[in-house]
Amino acid sequence: MLKVSVIGSGNVGATCAFEIARRNLAQVVLVDVVEGLAQGKSLDMNQASSFLKFNPQILGTNNFEEIVFSEVVVITAGLPRKPGMSRIDLLKTNAEIVKRVVEKVKKFAPHSKIIVITNPLDVMVFLALKVSNFPRERVIGMGGSLDSARFKYFLSLLLNVPLEDVSAMVIGAHGDTMVPLTQLATVRGKSIYSIASSQVIEKVVERTRNGGAEIVSLLKTGSAFYAPAMATAEMVESILLDQKKIISTAFYLQGEYGFSDVVISLPIVLGKNGVEKLIELNLSQETNEALAKSVKSVEEAIKELKTVVNFESN
Ligand code: NAI
Ligand code: 2OP
Repeated sequence: MLKVSVIGSGNVGATCAFEIARRNLAQVVLVDVVEGLAQGKSLDMNQASSFLKFNPQILGTNNFEEIVFSEVVVITAGLPRKPGMSRIDLLKTNAEIVKRVVEKVKKFAPHSKIIVITNPLDVMVFLALKVSNFPRERVIGMGGSLDSARFKYFLSLLLNVPLEDVSAMVIGAHGDTMVPLTQLATVRGKSIYSIASSQVIEKVVERTRNGGAEIVSLLKTGSAFYAPAMATAEMVESILLDQKKIISTAFYLQGEYGFSDVVISLPIVLGKNGVEKLIELNLSQETNEALAKSVKSVEEAIKELKTVVNFESN
């Protein structure tokens, strides 16, 4: 059976591990630095298999050596955002954690595909790529797929249409500058502009942009994890089963869309090799400008990253 390792057994990591096991996609190794946490959660999940009919194959551990031969390693280790805290506030602490984790992945699972979840997302993907030195096709991040799921949900809610009829995507940075592709969004093949006013669409966009922060301000002690975990499981599934789904995925660019040496989410075909193909969309001038602004925000965060953690020597 294939193996997937999930680093960090907190809210996102544990929920994601459970979903991967529940779908019988792989044997799961759940790693955390806190003694007993991954072990306790995995035991609990394995006991749930009698209700959910999956093969109980989740191993909880504090030992990174257990990740050997992983097909995919999901990195959720790090702090979540607290109320009033921006994603950038998380940068320094999480950069140190992600760097340490990626060094272990490089050592014990050098052929794996890495999916980064830890925030600030796009910057952490950049860091993981630099520290691992893996080909860029094997180092990606989950950001755009969650933002797209929120966009679709709010479209269905505010336009009062069934979710399965909505087709929509968000690209760009996983942050306030994300770019919901309103001009390409459809309901049963019809442009959303033919069924809703610009004001309603603007409300949907605002709620999408604020999707993570809205949950943080309600939870007060942490951030979203159910939808993030499902978004990640969907990416893992597309890779393991070579489904080649088109998923908005954070990826290191080398000239695509006119941008280089930066990470943002774009429509990507995810299959057994990780990134199989990047889809070049025909975007309006207005959308291209919004995307450039989004890229700039990540570039600024990358500059900041370089001042807080040393990774250039890797
Ligand atoms: P959490 O606090 O519930 O879990 C984090 C876990 O990481 C803890 O159990 C902690 O012990 C563990 N950890 C810390 N250092 C570690 C290390 N060196 N090795 C292994 N484990 C380590 O946090 P939660 O809610 O699971 O969020 C995790 C991260 O994911 C946060 O940075 C959060 O901002 C981010 N996130 C990103 C999303 C996205 O769309 N990309 C969505 C949701 C969360
Ligand atoms: C979210 O968007 C915190 O990035 C996380 O919910």
